[in-house]
Amino acid sequence: MSVELRTVSESEFPEWLRALRTGFLNEPVVPDALVADRLAHVDLDRTLGAVEGGRVVATFRSFRQRVSTVGGGGLTADAITQVTVAPTHRRRGLLSRLMERDLAAARERGDAVATLIAAEYPIYGRYGFGPASRLTEWSVDLRRAGLDPRRGGPEDGGRIDLADGAEIRRIGPDLHRGLAALRAGVTDRGRREWDIGTGLGHQLEPWKEPYYAVYRSASGEPEGYVSYRCDDRWSDAKQPENTLTVRDLIAVTPAAERALWRFVCSVDWVVTVRTGHRPPDDPLPLLLPDPRAARIVSHADMLWLRILDVVRVLEERTYPVADGLVLDVRDAGGFAGGRYRLDASPKGASCAPTTASADLVLDVAELSRLVLGDESAVRLALLGRIEEAVPGAAARAELLFRTPLLPFSPDIF
Ligand SMILES: CC(C)(COP(=O)(O)OP(=O)(O)OC[C@H]1O[C@@H](n2cnc3c(N)ncnc32)[C@H](O)[C@@H]1OP(=O)(O)O)[C@@H](O)C(=O)NCCC(=O)NCCS
Repeated sequence: MSVELRTVSESEFPEWLRALRTGFLNEPVVPDALVADRLAHVDLDRTLGAVEGGRVVATFRSFRQRVSTVGGGGLTADAITQVTVAPTHRRRGLLSRLMERDLAAARERGDAVATLIAAEYPIYGRYGFGPASRLTEWSVDLRRAGLDPRRGGPEDGGRIDLADGAEIRRIGPDLHRGLAALRAGVTDRGRREWDIGTGLGHQLEPWKEPYYAVYRSASGEPEGYVSYRCDDRWSDAKQPENTLTVRDLIAVTPAAERALWRFVCSVDWVVTVRTGHRPPDDPLPLLLPDPRAARIVSHADMLWLRILDVVRVLEERTYPVADGLVLDVRDAGGFAGGRYRLDASPKGASCAPTTASADLVLDVAELSRLVLGDESAVRLALLGRIEEAVPGAAARAELLFRTPLLPFSPDIF
């Protein structure tokens, strides 16, 4: 039987969902409520399946996304999600065919990049994706952290108030946009994400209401919020042993960030704070008198980026220094290859195809991992992943592409 690659129809969508749940090792059942909820939100024109004799044997979906870049700008991305191939049909090239089709459509639409979150590291490099941001999670032992237990509230005239989901839905989108202006790699959150994240709409897991707290500056402006849950554990000797787990912490000023961390580290009965996923340069550990009390419990790649349009991507960011570089970009996928001259400065940049000789030769996947500022060009050169056609070019690229704050991609999609 031949396998046909195509978009799926509404009537095939339950079968597509069943294939998706099977691929992700979830229970292969699709309640009507789940079908109705998903149908209301997916774009069937961008919902691909591999179909064999009426059975869906691979799933692949994409949607329009905005991803923040260095300096507060943003790029339109082809966000790829829900990629699965049935265990009966793996390693026959189905993912490669679906990816080729989707990236070609994205380039045709004019999307500057494609994005995804990789279930396993080795899957997507071959398609020109590079890991462009990372996440770190800490576990803080508050008994060792050295914080003064009598303190907790802000001492800068600001205040922290407990809040509810409705208030977060009201003030959260502006704060999230503020975060995107501060850090590259932030993917946009739509109304549905705000609803689901605060307990509205169809939930896959039973919902347990979290706590919310908002930081307001002395002038009353909301500058950040935190959402967290706590467990309820006590020792046999009646000592509290509770863990507070942060679900989401967004702060758009240093004062808000310090105050929110100080707040979650001061809740009575809590002895451990799990930070949830944070950027690797999160200030929290250094906020503690003893930073060793913050132990890294998870650290891994997060957002994978695939440049489709080199000129747009390199022009749509600022650079910490002024310099010019000629990049020879190799792209086996055929979308972004060529030689480009980048003239960059803290105010912005211009980039154009050139015939000048190259300073650096690199695959599009390596450029994709450099462009949000997370990776070191010198390190990639040491690994032989990028080639210096002119000695010292990697160090110059490092100074150009690196950013004071690392990219941060808090949202899973
Ligand atoms: C990952 C997955 C979609 C791959 O689909 P597939 O149709 O088997 O992939 P392809 O046959 O097109 O593979 C293309 C190449 O990638 C390699 N590859 C695919 N999946 C890989 C993996 N998980 N690890 C390492 N290499 C992988 C293949 O070996 C092949 O390499 P080759 O060209 O050198 O032979 C499939 O294994 C799957 O559904 N896994 C479980 C769900 C999952 O992880 N989805 C991804 C969510 S982000």
